[in-house]
Amino acid sequence: MTPLVVPGTANRPVAAAVCDALGAEPASCAIDQFPDGELRPVVDRVRGRDVYVVQPTAPPVSEHLVELLLLLDACRRGGSTRITAVVPYFGYARQDRRLLEGQAVAARVCVEALRSAGADRLVVVDPHTTALEAMCQMPAELLTAEPLLAAAVADGIDPGTVVVAPDLGAAKLAERYAAALGATVALVQKTRLGGGKVAVRDLAGEVSGRPSLIVDDMVSTGVTIEAAIGALRARGGGRGVTVVATHGVLVPGALERIARAGARRVVLTDTVRVPANTSADLAIEVCPAAPLLADAISRLHRDEPLDGLRLVI
Ligand code: R5P
Repeated sequence: MTPLVVPGTANRPVAAAVCDALGAEPASCAIDQFPDGELRPVVDRVRGRDVYVVQPTAPPVSEHLVELLLLLDACRRGGSTRITAVVPYFGYARQDRRLLEGQAVAARVCVEALRSAGADRLVVVDPHTTALEAMCQMPAELLTAEPLLAAAVADGIDPGTVVVAPDLGAAKLAERYAAALGATVALVQKTRLGGGKVAVRDLAGEVSGRPSLIVDDMVSTGVTIEAAIGALRARGGGRGVTVVATHGVLVPGALERIARAGARRVVLTDTVRVPANTSADLAIEVCPAAPLLADAISRLHRDEPLDGLRLVI
């Protein structure tokens, strides 16, 4: 029997592409809604099946999270033999520790909620924090889209390009891209002042006169990229900027902000649905995540290892 994909509503095109790649029909799954907004999902014929609920917790993050939880519970109560939560983009992963007294560790709350709703295991692509795995009491498979993104950007970056980590959290990511592309690295020291506000304290590395490739796990408001381009410009760099990230969370206005800041090319996967590009000055390239997800699902279904797909840091 083939694996059964249960598509949530957060990214139906990706779930459909996963099914195409697997040569499998998706489960019939209706998400009704009460007039007050309460979700009421109904899944059909999941009894006795090895089920993969595909749902990135993309914006609106909390609504998609609740929908995922309800789908997992519906599959468990519907008699699925094994349930995998496939969360290509895992929202709340940035809250993996308390920075201030009084905060929650939201990432842990979310993985625990998935488990108690019925997930037997979790599949995530390039999570903001690899600590997610340690937080999870169920097996978590952390996949990476880096090889496919690196291959996409390699085609089209100029000689002498410097790979830029827009904050210290992206330093290792920048090193991996630089190793794949035979490039050097520059590091921006960023401080986050709020959800949509950051400040740059310093930049280390030789950037003057050189094209830049800014790498990150996700782009949300775009302020991190904007600040990094500003720091590059202040040191004579920042021309011909390409941005590469796995998750284009892209809240309204983000693409415009990045274009205004001077980025000319953005390379993303479609773990989160990429909005229409309204900026003529910005080229957006999308690397489909479905082949990676389908390969992982197919191997997990056959109880085979995920060598070559996993994020290794
Ligand atoms: C933060 O540590 C992440 O890696 C990203 O740099 C950040 O979440 C991007 O968000 P924004 O686009 O809102 O700056």
